[in-house]
Amino acid sequence: MTFENILVATEGHLATLTINRPSKLNALNKATIQELHDALAQLDAEATIKAIILTGSGEKAFVAGADISEFAHFSIEEGAQLAALGQEILFDFVENMKTPVIAAVNGFALGGGLELAMACHFRIASDNAKMGLPEVTLGVIPGYGGTQRLPQLVGKGRAMEMIMTAGMIDAETAKSYGLVNHVVPQAELLEFTKDIASKITKNSPVAISYAIKAVNAGLIDTKEGFKTEIKSFGKCFGTEDFKEGTTAFLEKRKATFPGK
Ligand code: COA
Repeated sequence: MTFENILVATEGHLATLTINRPSKLNALNKATIQELHDALAQLDAEATIKAIILTGSGEKAFVAGADISEFAHFSIEEGAQLAALGQEILFDFVENMKTPVIAAVNGFALGGGLELAMACHFRIASDNAKMGLPEVTLGVIPGYGGTQRLPQLVGKGRAMEMIMTAGMIDAETAKSYGLVNHVVPQAELLEFTKDIASKITKNSPVAISYAIKAVNAGLIDTKEGFKTEIKSFGKCFGTEDFKEGTTAFLEKRKATFPGK
């Protein structure tokens, strides 16, 4: 897979996808959003890939937002289309992938950058990371799911304050809010994230994909979430992964999941 704005590296069951526009602090232009979609779709379809890390190149930024230069002259319709297309092909797409995607937030995650990190299944930050939704300083609101995912992750009051003040929070504050799970020195961010990813890759990919589905369903509609959990739990019993997992336990050995 070769792209202009992103780098894709795979090692064993793990893929690392790096947004690579450091001179623009990895801002998400249209081409980068499309490339991210294409790369993620390909990786999600590859059975050998069991976890994906998403990060930014350089030491300064994860992603400093949507590319402001591309939408500064948009009309009402073009603005709505920008948000709808972006949400469909990248932000909702990541959230609903069957392969877990972990954001390794290595610096500024602002606007669309924080929205992208929030669309990932969970986040790990470097100690220099700064996060915020500065859209109202530009006269717009977050349009890539930020008004929805931020309150889900940090609660309504904190989300309102972050959106209204457009301020940035540091990594430790983000951890205390529950926005990121861990904070580590920048030099250790990728190794630390890979360690967590490697724990994920040992587990049943089918069960993990059902868990993602059930968790996401509950965030849209709690009742539906419980129904999805019951249905998905039942489906697990028909999988080869379940047979292998339970057999391995009873045979006192480590499971090797076929991912089916
Ligand atoms: N869109 C387009 N270009 C961006 C960008 C964005 N969201 N964020 C940064 N860049 C570009 C800058 O224009 C600059 O390009 P140039 O060198 O060609 O002029 C380059 O990235 C470096 O950014 P710069 O502002 O010089 O770095 P800094 O260290 O002084 O400031 C930030 C860093 C993150 C505070 C600042 O870049 C910023 O506020 N960016 C916009 C954040 C934002 O509002 N995001 C939400 C968008 S909806």
